[in-house]
Amino acid sequence: MISPIENLTAIRISRELLQPVFLGVIIFFCSMTNSFCAVPAQDSTLQVLHWWTSASERKAASYLAARVADEGLLWRDVGIPGGAGIGAGKVLKSRVLASDAPEVTQIIGASIGEWAELGFLLELDKVARTNKWNTAFFPTIQNLIQYRQHVVAAPLGIHRINTLFYNRKLFATLKLSLPETWDELVLLAAKLKAAGVIPLAQSSEPWQLATLFENLILAESGPEYHRELFVKQNAQAVFDHRFIQALERFRLMKNWMSHPVDERPWTEVVRQFSRHEAAMTIMGDWAKGELNEWGYATDDEFSCTSMPGTGKYHLYSVDTFSMFTNDYSHVAAQEKLAKLVATPSVQAEYNAIKGSVSVLRDADPAKMDSCARASWIAFAQGASMQAPSLVHRMATDESSRDAIIAVIHKYFIDDSVTPAETQKRLAAIFRTLNLNNRK
Ligand code: BGC
Repeated sequence: MISPIENLTAIRISRELLQPVFLGVIIFFCSMTNSFCAVPAQDSTLQVLHWWTSASERKAASYLAARVADEGLLWRDVGIPGGAGIGAGKVLKSRVLASDAPEVTQIIGASIGEWAELGFLLELDKVARTNKWNTAFFPTIQNLIQYRQHVVAAPLGIHRINTLFYNRKLFATLKLSLPETWDELVLLAAKLKAAGVIPLAQSSEPWQLATLFENLILAESGPEYHRELFVKQNAQAVFDHRFIQALERFRLMKNWMSHPVDERPWTEVVRQFSRHEAAMTIMGDWAKGELNEWGYATDDEFSCTSMPGTGKYHLYSVDTFSMFTNDYSHVAAQEKLAKLVATPSVQAEYNAIKGSVSVLRDADPAKMDSCARASWIAFAQGASMQAPSLVHRMATDESSRDAIIAVIHKYFIDDSVTPAETQKRLAAIFRTLNLNNRK
């Protein structure tokens, strides 16, 4: 059976071979007939595929669409539901297989390299050079948007995944202080439960559970160990006592959630938190954008802090757009859009709506709200304080990510699965992945 990747490779190769033939036929026809052969008009309509379908995400996309319209371009919106891009990834693959790739796509992290390797992505080197992207962005962002020394993505914003949202009014009424360590978090959860309040809003969607788990890993041992596990996929690291501790804490936290822990979209988790039905939630800061959009101002009803034990660190997901070359008829429009999203004003305004922070090193944190300021300042500390999110494809490719998330999910859902079994499963996956990567 031909795999989708083999199929994609075949499409790319046939397109690459046919394109010169096609152009050759046109040139021959033009020279033979001496007719006027105009260069094909540059198409100014851009289909933009993304997974921003919540209220604040749609508002952020509409903001970009309006700026794109100011440039004389048309943004044709293709929003695919599914938190963390689960649905969008599938739609993208099937559209590429049908030779119908959108001109612009939200592709993030390691997925950028996967698509670039297949030869589908437009190189944005000219835009990057003209706009001095090599000095404008944080180094981590520069690395993320490049594949083999070519810029193949334009960055939008940086999300912080180790954000703990807490209900200010509830904390004030119950005279609770913010937890800074795991032990304080345990005490706090006990107090909340005693007061009849659900400590944590959480969904059992695999990606949302894995988000909580990678927070626990980071809290327990910092970015280096997080990388050892999720970037290097070191099988030995799975047998470290820190891993068992994170698993035990993960299971203990189950008692802090409403039962059963339903598999529901992240927006519903945030809804439960916003209705004061749970005191806290641990979620990427797109939740802040959503709360703001629903009329809850930052530092009024709610505030954010970091997951206890991760205050200095930044568990990041960076949103980026990549452009599919197709027949090259949209290059001018695609380059305009790439340039636009990285301009200081768009960076400031878009990120304020989205809940993320600017990718620009000279952004002004004084103009950000308290959540965004803390996030931007933590990210600006540099790579040693940053951890690439497993869930959001910053640490590893799509299939490795899915395999790791499945093991974490199984452990959480099924109480009969022991930490030792989970360690064995994950170590086996890491060994297989390492073997495959070495091939
Ligand atoms: C993206 C965010 C998005 C979130 C929820 C993340 O992977 O980076 O832009 O809001 O998923 O779907």
